[in-house]
Amino acid sequence: MEQYVIKGGAPLVGEVEIGGAKNAALPILVAATMTDDTVLIENVPDVRDTNVMMQAMESIGVVIERLDRHTVKINAKNIRVQAVEDEYIKKIRASYYLIGALLGKYNEAEVALPGGCNIGSRPIDLHIKGFEALGVNVKIAHGNIVAKADHLKGGHIYLDKVSVGATINVMMAAVLAEGVTIIENAAKEPHVVDVANFLNRMGASVRGAGTDVIRIKGVAKLHGTEYAIIPDQIEAGTFMFAAAITKGDITVKNVIPKHLESISSKLLEIGCEIEESDEAVRVVASKRLKHTHVNTLPYPGFPTDMQPQITVALGLSQGTSVVTESLFENRFRYVDELTRMGSSIKVEGNVAIIDGVEKYTGASISAPDLRAGAALVLAGLAAEGFTTVDDIKYVERGYEDFDEKLRGLGAMIEKVSTEKELQKFKLKVG
Ligand code: UD1
Repeated sequence: MEQYVIKGGAPLVGEVEIGGAKNAALPILVAATMTDDTVLIENVPDVRDTNVMMQAMESIGVVIERLDRHTVKINAKNIRVQAVEDEYIKKIRASYYLIGALLGKYNEAEVALPGGCNIGSRPIDLHIKGFEALGVNVKIAHGNIVAKADHLKGGHIYLDKVSVGATINVMMAAVLAEGVTIIENAAKEPHVVDVANFLNRMGASVRGAGTDVIRIKGVAKLHGTEYAIIPDQIEAGTFMFAAAITKGDITVKNVIPKHLESISSKLLEIGCEIEESDEAVRVVASKRLKHTHVNTLPYPGFPTDMQPQITVALGLSQGTSVVTESLFENRFRYVDELTRMGSSIKVEGNVAIIDGVEKYTGASISAPDLRAGAALVLAGLAAEGFTTVDDIKYVERGYEDFDEKLRGLGAMIEKVSTEKELQKFKLKVG
């Protein structure tokens, strides 16, 4: 089994290039199947989730040509079936986007119920409510979501909770529905806007993405286009926190600083220095971090996908901090692992009360999910001595070349799969 082995203690210093946004790439790859024309997509991150998604798309007859590591050409004129039961697809949450896209194009879809990170119960009731408002009949049968309509017609949808997935999914189906669809209380995340921009480039008429109300005027068909995916807000934020946690100096490049505002402002609050330029943000942490309070919220609030990273940072700060997780109830499972490293954190329901400690100490730990896995790696990089992180398959779902990018910043980290390789690393770094 592969694991990361880390020797902590060195501040991370240097520049790192941020890749395309995983959570924009997933729906955009899927949305590209809504036309029979060929679509070219650039800046696709080479991570497990996007690769699994493309594999599932190929299993139903979509032709995908990889022009280079981050550029793909997609043609979906010969989709064979609308039933997607690929064994891999059950493992990723974003498989639900196939329902919206196939429904829009063919008025029917059957997709295995989604899996994904175990960060709490993750219902899809809002997606279903949205589809039903478009005149679709939705039922769950034999582990699959089965959705069917005579034809899709525009509808008025109020999302009871702000949901990225439901907003994008309903938006995709609605672009090919007859008439106008209004989505109220829509998610405003940068990737929602990116998907809307992409759909518009294919000939859709989506207005208001990035605000609470999205208005979609259905069109008869979509056409081919070329599109580059936005930079990954969470990958960038993770490296920004790597600077804070290791008392380093990191410049994240190829980012959109506006998307990082909630992250930058928390870093400033806890005592880091921030320098912004057009496409880069530099984070310098020279002093002991200060405590603060954080509440995860939909965009433009502090992202739930950055919650483990900020908790790891606050675990090393001076004083007591409180982190409230408002979106997913099971997102503090990594705290037990962090406790092995010497942190002092008490979790009560969706609140973590953190008493900052001077330092972490290396330990053998496991990644419980994607973002927590990355955050634990950062803890290991700050810790005294050696840390091993198991279950790194979670981290690889969403971070391209994570260990390599960290090494580029001076980190002592390696991916190993045998005891011999682990000992070799320990001998090498001393
Ligand atoms: C997406 C992201 C995930 C991120 C999350 C919030 C992808 C593949 N994943 O997940 O990384 O953490 O947004 O930014 O893009 N909810 C319902 N009913 C539904 C749908 C959601 O009650 O039908 C609830 C969820 O339980 C959660 C909240 O709404 O409490 C937000 O979830 P949502 O934004 O939909 O998250 P995902 O799309 O699952």
